[in-house]
Amino acid sequence: MQSNNIIEISSCIFQYPHNSKNTLDMAPLHVRKGEHIFLHGKSGSGKTTFLNILCGIIEPDISDIKILHTDFSKLSSSHKDRFRADNYGTVFQQFNLLPYLSVKENIALSCGFSKQKSSHVSDMESEIERLLKELDLSPALLNTPAMNLSVGEQQRVAVARALIGAPKIIIADEPTSALDSDAKERFMKLLFKQVEAQNATLLFVSHDRSLSSYFGTHYDFTEINKAAR
Ligand SMILES: Nc1ncnc2c1ncn2[C@@H]1O[C@H](COP(=O)(O)OP(=O)(O)OP(=O)(O)O)[C@@H](O)[C@H]1O
Ligand SMILES: [Mg+2]
Repeated sequence: MQSNNIIEISSCIFQYPHNSKNTLDMAPLHVRKGEHIFLHGKSGSGKTTFLNILCGIIEPDISDIKILHTDFSKLSSSHKDRFRADNYGTVFQQFNLLPYLSVKENIALSCGFSKQKSSHVSDMESEIERLLKELDLSPALLNTPAMNLSVGEQQRVAVARALIGAPKIIIADEPTSALDSDAKERFMKLLFKQVEAQNATLLFVSHDRSLSSYFGTHYDFTEINKAAR
């Protein structure tokens, strides 16, 4: 029988080329389907590096990582890019929206790279409108270039982009750092509503411990990364 784990890390060791010591040496970690994980831990403990490895953006030196029952460690870098496009939704601190593209184009782009995601969307325009509505963003913003949005609006467009096409894994790195406390609460509620509706697995990194109550699982990254102890 297939295990219920979405992510299984048996080992993961990584050193940045010019650093004198490892940045990551992970203790074994299993993530179940639909689990909502809150990762916190001191600055520089390797959280962002770890997320970049799970996304296939950084190649670890030694690793045994299975994701969605695929031997992720053995995929070539182009297969990892494809795997990420098909299976992940990501929200990073700087959102990485393309400034000159409209809200609609930024969101749709995520499906443009993945047949798997676009197969979950029968009508792109109405799905984008639905997500914007769920995220409390005016449909009037659809054709606005991302650079003309407020930070809070950009953050929600980044979430819509992460959620479209029903990816199985959502990875968020400090996505609320620029929001005031009211906006933060709205953002978290909307994120969780969508994540639960899609039965997605969520990995969320934040220094803001007030957000931890939304999550069923909490890890101090310095505990699970032996290199940071
Ligand atoms: N490109 C890089 N080259 C060399 N060292 C790096 C690079 N990026 C990060 N590091 C180092 O790796 C360590 C972990 O960095 P990382 O960004 O993963 O930490 P973090 O836990 O996400 O921190 P924060 O909470 O401040 O975001 C730090 O000591 C950092 O200086
Ligand atoms: Mg970081």
